[in-house]
Amino acid sequence: MTRALFDPLTLRGLEIRNRIWIPPMCQYAVDAQDGIPTDWHLMHLGSLARGGAGLVTVEATGVSPEGRISPEDLGLWNDEQAQAFRRLTAMIHSQGAAAAIQLAHAGRKASTWRAWGDHPEGNVPAERGGWQPVGPSPRAYDGLAVPTELTAEGIADVVVAFIAAARRAVNAGFDVLEIHGAHGYLLHEFLSPLSNGRTDAYGGSLENRARLLLEVVDAVRAEVGEQVPMIVRLSATDWVQGGWDLPQTEAVSSWLGEHGVDMISVSSGGNVPAEIPVGPGYQLPFATSIKESTGLPVAAVGMIDDPFQAEQIVALGQSDVVLVGRESLRDPNFPIRAAEALRYDMPYKPAPYERAYR
Ligand SMILES: Cc1cc2nc3c(=O)[nH]c(=O)nc-3n(C[C@H](O)[C@H](O)[C@H](O)COP(=O)(O)O)c2cc1C
Repeated sequence: MTRALFDPLTLRGLEIRNRIWIPPMCQYAVDAQDGIPTDWHLMHLGSLARGGAGLVTVEATGVSPEGRISPEDLGLWNDEQAQAFRRLTAMIHSQGAAAAIQLAHAGRKASTWRAWGDHPEGNVPAERGGWQPVGPSPRAYDGLAVPTELTAEGIADVVVAFIAAARRAVNAGFDVLEIHGAHGYLLHEFLSPLSNGRTDAYGGSLENRARLLLEVVDAVRAEVGEQVPMIVRLSATDWVQGGWDLPQTEAVSSWLGEHGVDMISVSSGGNVPAEIPVGPGYQLPFATSIKESTGLPVAAVGMIDDPFQAEQIVALGQSDVVLVGRESLRDPNFPIRAAEALRYDMPYKPAPYERAYR
């Protein structure tokens, strides 16, 4: 039986085996604080690839040391890191999945404690590996340090850092690049009027607030060439009156399409504290709306946990792809389980596990 969820999808000549993809998920597991992937990352990503996903996205990876969310984030600002990433892409490819990496700058939400374990409030102090965060404006995220406002030179350095990280990522074997423009990190901070109070060419009008994101996209495309598919992850709304919202997201998404972006990964929130009406598929309407208004392929995310729900989303054309996050942490074999539930004869179930599926 054919199933929409298991139809391959092609982006710029890269055929991806199905429509169940793994979104970026920070592990905060680099205990050495040097940005270099460890055995944990190898095992974690390897198991997700073995579980049958079409594409596995490596977590938000700092394009510069101060672009990390926490000191324990992955980084891609030097060659030693790039070398270590080769093991990850080889492992993901060995299991038949495509490998993506989310290139990120955390902006004013940088130098925070990792999201698990005990830790105090606020930012990580210098003696624990922390640093002074930067942002579009000296406006703090609730409970965090006031960021240093980026100068024009500082903004240019951010673009250069994305270029260098993109080059290293492609050289390390990644098939797809994702630019992190969501969740209240630097590029989203520039987009949203709540975090961007600049009066220069990077603030004010929507064109100006989107300038840095478009510069990053153009610069990365110029660096890596036409072959490499590029995804941009956006928050469709700040969930707050007067903040970033769906109409602005749709406008910027269509510009991104004109600038050669191949897909929008549609998330929401993260820039300011907000009440978010969480529930099954709660962000899907944003993805569908962006798909319809721009004609661009989209990836939907957010509590898509059930095989039939996932199949219906793709079959009805509400999204081109579903991203399964926490459910794939609970069960890295979710795609295999979905195939079984949907009576799809998955040709890439791991052969050594055959007896488990008879
Ligand atoms: C442990 C964890 C880490 C995450 N790290 C990232 C990240 O690095 N980049 C990102 O864009 N989203 C990140 N997210 C958000 C997920 O990619 C996803 O959008 C979110 O979990 C909602 O999908 P789900 O309901 O399927 O989990 C993270 C989520 C979790 C649970």
